[in-house]
Amino acid sequence: MAPDHESQLENHPPASAPVSPPASFVEQANVADEDIYEEFEENWPECWARAGDLLDWESDYEQVLARDGETRRWFEGGQLNASVNCLDRHVEAGRKNKVAIKWSGRQNGTRSYTYLALKREVEEFAASLRELGVEEDDVVTLYMPMIPELPIAMLACARIGAPHSVVFAGFSADALATRMNSADSEYLVTCDGYYRRGTPVHQKSKADNARLKLDHDVAAAVVVERLGDGTPLGDSEYDYSDLIARHRNATVEPVPRDANDELFLIYTSGTTGEPTGVRHTTGGYLSHVAWTAQSVLDIKPEDTYWCSADIGWITGHSYIVYGPLALGTTSVMYEGTPDYPEKDRVWELIERNAVDVFYTAPTAIRAFMKWGEEYPEKHDLSSLRLLGTVGEPINPRAWRWYHEHIGNGECPVVDTWWQTETGGMMVTTLPGVAEMKPGSAGPPLPGVSAKVVDGTGEPISSNEAGYLVVDRPWPGMPLSMVENEGWFVERNEGYPSLEGFDWVYFSEDAGTVDENGYITVLGRVDDLIDVSGHLFGTADIETAITDTEGVTEAAVVSGPEESDGRGAATVYAYVSTAEGYGEELREDVIEAVSEQVSPLAAPDIIVFTPDLPKTRSGKIMRRMLASVTRGDDLGDTSALRNPEVVGELESAIDSER
Ligand code: WTA
Repeated sequence: MAPDHESQLENHPPASAPVSPPASFVEQANVADEDIYEEFEENWPECWARAGDLLDWESDYEQVLARDGETRRWFEGGQLNASVNCLDRHVEAGRKNKVAIKWSGRQNGTRSYTYLALKREVEEFAASLRELGVEEDDVVTLYMPMIPELPIAMLACARIGAPHSVVFAGFSADALATRMNSADSEYLVTCDGYYRRGTPVHQKSKADNARLKLDHDVAAAVVVERLGDGTPLGDSEYDYSDLIARHRNATVEPVPRDANDELFLIYTSGTTGEPTGVRHTTGGYLSHVAWTAQSVLDIKPEDTYWCSADIGWITGHSYIVYGPLALGTTSVMYEGTPDYPEKDRVWELIERNAVDVFYTAPTAIRAFMKWGEEYPEKHDLSSLRLLGTVGEPINPRAWRWYHEHIGNGECPVVDTWWQTETGGMMVTTLPGVAEMKPGSAGPPLPGVSAKVVDGTGEPISSNEAGYLVVDRPWPGMPLSMVENEGWFVERNEGYPSLEGFDWVYFSEDAGTVDENGYITVLGRVDDLIDVSGHLFGTADIETAITDTEGVTEAAVVSGPEESDGRGAATVYAYVSTAEGYGEELREDVIEAVSEQVSPLAAPDIIVFTPDLPKTRSGKIMRRMLASVTRGDDLGDTSALRNPEVVGELESAIDSER
């Protein structure tokens, strides 16, 4: 990194000074014409044919969006198969030798699958699943880490019209059992185990424990050998490679699926309560993710693209597997962790694979910042053309760090807001069209109608916090919305009134919107703090804190009300710092919040901590922090990646109060 880049950062451009995409990017962008917004608007919903037409249809759809009473169905009348769209058509188009999945395993293992090789193995596994009795519409649960057999199994299910339900490999036996019970899933694909940071995790024994808790029998379980520790197979258990060998060179005719047939089921990453199953469609979902992978991630078939999410979450489904493969690009898949064996692992992989487009989460970016720029500086990252983030609000300082130290100031950054429920991206800038505002996701995508409204459902005026709703259907909407089951209901007090809308989905997120229509997502509605009758987004306060020099991460929750004489909540801030910084930042933090948000929002209690409690997908677990703050019983901490921090926090709070 050139030294003058660093000094530019020190000079602190105003928090949200807009950044324009460089001309060199715009010239080559898949979408570079700003008229696209108007075109989509004037021609809604037919505009979405642009997404549908990225796919190959077995029979053409008759209507882009059909309406039957309250029911809305995308690409009605169309039939297609997702595995054909992700595999066969690329093979037939003369790209059989193009690499589809480029996998890097723990230590130095790598595997590459060309589109032809991937199609072969998908068909062999599809034939195997059929032999085991899987029929169209049977739910197959996939409980595997980031190994190629996971996307292979997903596509094999898609080929025979069996919805998959991927359960994050790090989840416990209980979590697996809850999901298999809820989906009534009788088929399981798992592995013997895998290494995490050099230590073996015995996946199969977790799966065995889950089986004991099922309300039904498992008809068949397939076990991929990953550890190779000689895990014995019991009744109705089959070795993956034996099955594949038995079906060598099998061809399996793809099952044509209606556009509104289920492609897969996924449970929300939900940090509270019972997991909710979300079912996605074949036609609408696949169109939505292919289109956004093309227009937002700017993916081209000749690219090497890397999304560092886990396939266990929606981000991996949409933007490691379905979107990129539908476009025929090379999708990098990484099994390991970003700091093992060294903290430059991610940058090493980008250099080694000459990655063009990189998509990751703010929590990862903040970790990279904490580790320091010396790690990316060791590597040549000049292959990168575009960067993306998803999963949480990104504070402007982390945004600028990513832009400068990873993108060398030359790659646009797309901050993409969406959810498990939306299937694909909804709010973000188009990188070849609009300027970016660090910290703000951007306008809704063309054809998407997202609004920030107040408690009565009215659009709010500039920069006040409100509720983020989507008030028109979008192709990636889940089946429950297609079928109009309970998405329109006001579910809780403190939610906006949705009565004035014809059709509306409430995201349960809070946000603000500026004079240019850029939406800044503040986080879940539950993350608003009421201080003396004023509502503040915890994310706004956190942004002010993390923008303080020396701070790397912060989480803000409301404290016990009675301790505050004003009859309103106290603001608790949990702050972790970079090496060499600590308690002395207290005043800076208070000042930053007072200036950037409001003196009312300044934290009453600041707890410095080396780490914050995080879910296994890397999200800060605010529910846990709120319980720690209130001194409540913490319940089950097994969903945490780092349960040990809870005890540390409890004692740190005691010394602060
Ligand atoms: C949050 C992940 C701010 C938000 C795709 C949402 C974001 C939840 C952003 C969904 C973003 C996602 N800016 N917040 N760019 N992207 N979120 O279901 O609170 O795992 O509701 O889907 O993540 O998380 P989920």
